[in-house]
This record gives sequence, C-alpha cells and structure tokens, in this order.
Amino acid sequence: MKKIAVFASGSGSNFQALVDAAKADQLSCEIALMVCDKPGAFAIERADKAGIPSLVISPKDCASKVDYEKQILQKLNESEVELIVLAGYMRLIGETLLSAYEGRIVNIHPSLLPSFPGKDAIGQAFQAKVMITGVTVHYVDEGMDTGPIIAQEAVKMDENETRESLEAKIHQVEHLLYPNVIQKLCSREK
Ligand code: GAR
Repeated sequence: MKKIAVFASGSGSNFQALVDAAKADQLSCEIALMVCDKPGAFAIERADKAGIPSLVISPKDCASKVDYEKQILQKLNESEVELIVLAGYMRLIGETLLSAYEGRIVNIHPSLLPSFPGKDAIGQAFQAKVMITGVTVHYVDEGMDTGPIIAQEAVKMDENETRESLEAKIHQVEHLLYPNVIQKLCSREK
C-alpha cells in the first residue's frame, strides 16, 4: 500500500479527516508519518491518539531551510513515503523537498484559487464580499498556493454569513473533498 506523509502546522482537522477516512477503509494508502513545524500544535496530539508517528521540527532549531528540509527528507525516505499531503502546513516548500518529491506534493487551500492565495484566505474572501468562494486542492510548486489544480468545490456565501459560519462551511467541504482526492491519487498511481 502506498505510504503518505501529512504535513500540518495547527489544529490538524484536515489531517484528522484523512485519519478517519483511512480508519473507515476509505483510503487505499497508509498515513505513515505526520510532519509538524510547530511544537505544541494540536495536530501532534491527534497523531499520537491515532498511533501515527510524528516528526516535529521547528525551523528555528535548524541552521537553514535546507537543513530543516533535509532532516524531513531523511525521515520521509526512512518511512518510504511516496506522496506528501499538505494539510494546513503554513510554510513554503523549498527546493530540497520540491526536487525530491517533484509532482508528488499536494496542498489544500480554503479559497477558489487563484483568488485569495496566502494567509487567511477565508477572511480575505469574507472581506471582499464575494458571493462564491470555496476550496482548492492542487499540486505544489515553488509559489505560494500556485501549481496545477486537481479539484475545486464552491461554497456559497449566504446573505447573513459571518466569518465563523463561512469558516465552518469551508472546513466541512475540505474534510470531505481532501480524503476523496487523496484516495483518487493513491488508487491511480501504483
Ligand atoms: C485549512 O483550512 C487549510 O485549507 C488551510 O489551513 C487550514 C488548516 O486547518 N491551509 C492554507 O491556508 C494553506 N495556504 P486544519 O489545521 O484544521 O486542517
């Protein structure tokens, strides 16, 4: 079975959605590793609870970004990871990981890219008063939330929408869309 690593920086609710899908036999891949750049993030607790090994490294404790990513790469190799799944990993992927995993890194972003890339995409869309926003899953390149789009799903902004209600709707869509897309990618490739 193909092995994947999930990268997270915060709450890890998308990581949890993948864990739950795997437990329910809806994912034909194994989550072999959770990588986190933020010691203390709730995603680490989720990994512990699910019995998934986690690698927690703060870039601040590394000599350089290259050094940071080399440490991650070593662990990915040891764990025989074939696909990197970014799930709320709030850091640009650098040259070290990009060249080792070319075309094998995917990300989920809470907007209809190319609209609202970067931080707080939900807040950006809310403030812009767009009528439709959504969720994008895409391959990762050297840019910020750029790279070929794999899947998108729209979320309608209702008249009385609040920032909080919009966020809840976006997360609900993410938690269904991401496991579905990862399942398709895992079953498509050998
Ligand atoms: C998710 O909404 C994800 O789409 C977003 O961070 C949140 C993480 O939530 N990612 C980005 O904004 C990437 N540019 P989670 O930690 O609960 O999965």
